[in-house]
Amino acid sequence: MTHLQGPERAHYVQGMFARISGHYDVMNRLMTGGRDLAWRRDVIRLANLGPDARLLDVATGTGDILIEALKQHPDVQTVGSDFTFEMMTRGKPKAGAEHIAWNTADALHLPFPDESFDAVTSGFGVRNFIDREQAFREQRRVLKPGGRVICLEISKPPKNLLRPFFLFFFNKIVPFVGGLISGQRDAYTYLPQSVNEFLTPDELKIIMERAGLREVTYKRLMMSTVAIHVGRK
Ligand SMILES: C[S@@+](CC[C@H](N)C(=O)[O-])C[C@H]1O[C@@H](n2cnc3c(N)ncnc32)[C@H](O)[C@@H]1O
Repeated sequence: MTHLQGPERAHYVQGMFARISGHYDVMNRLMTGGRDLAWRRDVIRLANLGPDARLLDVATGTGDILIEALKQHPDVQTVGSDFTFEMMTRGKPKAGAEHIAWNTADALHLPFPDESFDAVTSGFGVRNFIDREQAFREQRRVLKPGGRVICLEISKPPKNLLRPFFLFFFNKIVPFVGGLISGQRDAYTYLPQSVNEFLTPDELKIIMERAGLREVTYKRLMMSTVAIHVGRK
């Protein structure tokens, strides 16, 4: 997969998420030990949503970030956007998802007018994008002045004593368990490949700044293997 570039890579990613959509949530819980739920709560707190805010979640998948947003702020207007229809189909019947407006779109070309959202979130989406700076430029474009972009993502494992354990976990355990649960082992070799290619929190911060976001900060989670970045327009 790593040899694929540009639209071919995007096409591969889309097909892979379509195939694993039925097992995605359960794998998420297993791989993070359920911690992803707490991270999503953090993402919404950091979005700092006011009354009747409009929130866009890019690469929303099965919609868990927006379901969390609606729990914290029942009056928030939520739009979930993803280019894999099958992932969103899995999200629609979930409890709490009935108020989400679902939208099939590529994160690199969002079909929304300028300055139409108070906050834009994404969870585990950015590492899949073939042009990350363009994705953040789009998020910035649709954001109202003063609004926030919040990005939850896996980071390149830091060079410390735990690094071999993380690499073993991502490279061996995840494909094995993912294969057992979904019968799609190749799909779960994509995750370690995309993590090995992924960025340090500082590298991601620079990309967000290049896309025009300001005051970019991040917090590290899960022994620095996950980070939440926040930037402002
Ligand atoms: C790992 S899942 C994350 C789902 C969800 N945000 C979560 O937190 O669980 C990545 C999602 O990104 C979507 N995705 C990847 N590249 C995309 C793109 N260029 N445009 C829109 N969605 C994309 C995939 O379809 C998939 O649903």
